[in-house]
Amino acid sequence: MQPPTNKPAASSISSAPPLVGVVVVQRATLADTRQLAAADSAAFRDDALGCAIYGEEAGHTPEQREVEREERESRYVKLVRDPADVVLKAVMAIDGPGGSSGGEGGGDGGGEVIIGFAGWEAPASSRDASAVYARELMLQECYRHGPAWRNEALWDRWGLVEEEFEGLLAGRAGDMWHLTTFGILPEYRGRGIGRQLLEAGLAITDERREDVYLEATPAAKGFYERGGFQVVGEAEVMEGYAITLMLRKAQR
Ligand SMILES: CC(C)(COP(=O)(O)OP(=O)(O)OC[C@H]1O[C@@H](n2cnc3c(N)ncnc32)[C@H](O)[C@@H]1OP(=O)(O)O)[C@@H](O)C(=O)NCCC(=O)NCCS
Repeated sequence: MQPPTNKPAASSISSAPPLVGVVVVQRATLADTRQLAAADSAAFRDDALGCAIYGEEAGHTPEQREVEREERESRYVKLVRDPADVVLKAVMAIDGPGGSSGGEGGGDGGGEVIIGFAGWEAPASSRDASAVYARELMLQECYRHGPAWRNEALWDRWGLVEEEFEGLLAGRAGDMWHLTTFGILPEYRGRGIGRQLLEAGLAITDERREDVYLEATPAAKGFYERGGFQVVGEAEVMEGYAITLMLRKAQR
């Protein structure tokens, strides 16, 4: 899981439009980053950890929401720009306005809307040393310069959990894919779209015979277990909220 972020206002994609076509999974491009950020925001709106770290969206000013939106979008821009990483989007054709041809979340091609997203970070071992260094710097910046209203104690706790998980992977994280973010818009869940999106990514990692790890929210642990992931460890980030470190070996 990527570091939890705040929840800016939902875009036009927040209300379920009528479905008129099949869902397809495609590689995302830079033209998609705004809509990806909006989908990410909507998918994690009910996540208790994100709300505890950043506060409820409803209590935020428009300026705060814009800062959060930019931060969220910048993560997608970085992932999409990196040729080693893979960002997938699940898109669905929709009827009438609200697709990528209209509304705030405009993307590429009319009558389609992003309803799911997956950010796959490639193994560090597949990057050159300078790219690994640049990524480290970027992450440090992200950790240091959160918005002023961030709950720093909880944020630090999250950082410690990540370190703990790295220890559990015993130095192997750098040889694995990291599924950093994944979600389906609430109104489209329970229709097999998450599985379709997950399988599309796993087809890539299996093809390369590389393992995958992730940090599952409580809401998604069972979903990943069905997808072939196994529990490596668990850590309570705040009272009643545990993140689960999960691993899936490449299917050779
Ligand atoms: C977790 C999530 C991605 C699942 O997406 P989805 O489209 O509803 O999942 P699907 O309909 O494709 O479900 C696939 C299978 O997983 C099962 N499943 C889905 N969510 C589950 C859950 N929370 N616990 C147990 N099983 C679950 C389904 O029953 C289905 O089982 P089947 O193979 O027997 O048919 C979605 O609920 C979500 O976006 N959650 C919020 C964001 C989040 O927590 N992301 C993960 C960050 S680590």
